[in-house]
Amino acid sequence: MKTLNGKTAIVTGASSGIGYETAKLFASEGANVVVAARRRNELDRLVAEIEAAGGKAVALAGDVADETYASSLVELAENAFGGLDIGFNNAGTNGEMGPTPDISLKGWQDALNVNLTGAFLGAKYQIPAMLKRGAGSLIFTSTFVGYTVGFPGTAAYGASKAGVIGLMKSLAAELGPQGIRVNAILPGGTETAMAQAWIDTPEKRAFVEGLNVLKRLASPAEIARSVLYLASDASSFTTGSAMLVDGGVSINRT
Ligand SMILES: NC(=O)c1ccc[n+]([C@@H]2O[C@H](COP(=O)([O-])OP(=O)(O)OC[C@H]3O[C@@H](n4cnc5c(N)ncnc54)[C@H](OP(=O)(O)O)[C@@H]3O)[C@@H](O)[C@H]2O)c1
Repeated sequence: MKTLNGKTAIVTGASSGIGYETAKLFASEGANVVVAARRRNELDRLVAEIEAAGGKAVALAGDVADETYASSLVELAENAFGGLDIGFNNAGTNGEMGPTPDISLKGWQDALNVNLTGAFLGAKYQIPAMLKRGAGSLIFTSTFVGYTVGFPGTAAYGASKAGVIGLMKSLAAELGPQGIRVNAILPGGTETAMAQAWIDTPEKRAFVEGLNVLKRLASPAEIARSVLYLASDASSFTTGSAMLVDGGVSINRT
């Protein structure tokens, strides 16, 4: 029996990295998947890959900071697959990084718009669809940055992602009585396009790997397995949780 048989999921940030691997894993576990991001070609490639493996997926390209896009994704899930059970709001950006006095207001607002407002808009439209089913699992991608660890130069990223944890806790309290679980996954350094800024020289890579107790980075597929846990009934008593999947970076002192 597959873990997500008969379920329907929206996965944002599905054109690469963690979202891409999670969409594939959800589909291989029996879920119908609506995949979302701005790059249409990558989404089409993902849908083809899922279908070739016998799964079901549809794509809609757009910007998660756009309210119409958030509602259209839910509409697509309902029209294509009859409802919605899982919302993985994962799309994110590093935003403008550097010393805080150098961060422009626009750079700050862009990070907030994608990482925090995008998460809010996703939830805003996913919740009513889940309420129709009387159950659901909402998952947000946050990070240890700005939560358990402060890094210089990450004001916009850290603040927006810590905001996602506040959003998650509020929603968990609001929706628990109605059968909807809400959690965040907090990956550590993971081998994706977004992480390249941190690991684009051997020295930087060695530094980032050394921050982790496990002394290596994660693969996106490893993070996807933890997302699957939060999406599935395996985590049926878990809600309001900021789940670290961070290779031990948060507790490392070595
Ligand atoms: N990699 C790490 O070390 C790490 C650690 C902790 C947390 N995270 C978080 O993990 C999540 C996934 O990132 P990743 O590491 O898998 O990097 P990635 O491969 O670069 O994926 C980022 C995804 O977000 C999408 N995206 C970005 N801006 C968007 C927008 N405005 N509208 C719609 N989609 C947008 C991108 O697609 P398009 O460009 O096609 O729109 C892409 O699919 C992010 O929220 C990130 O903050 C990553």
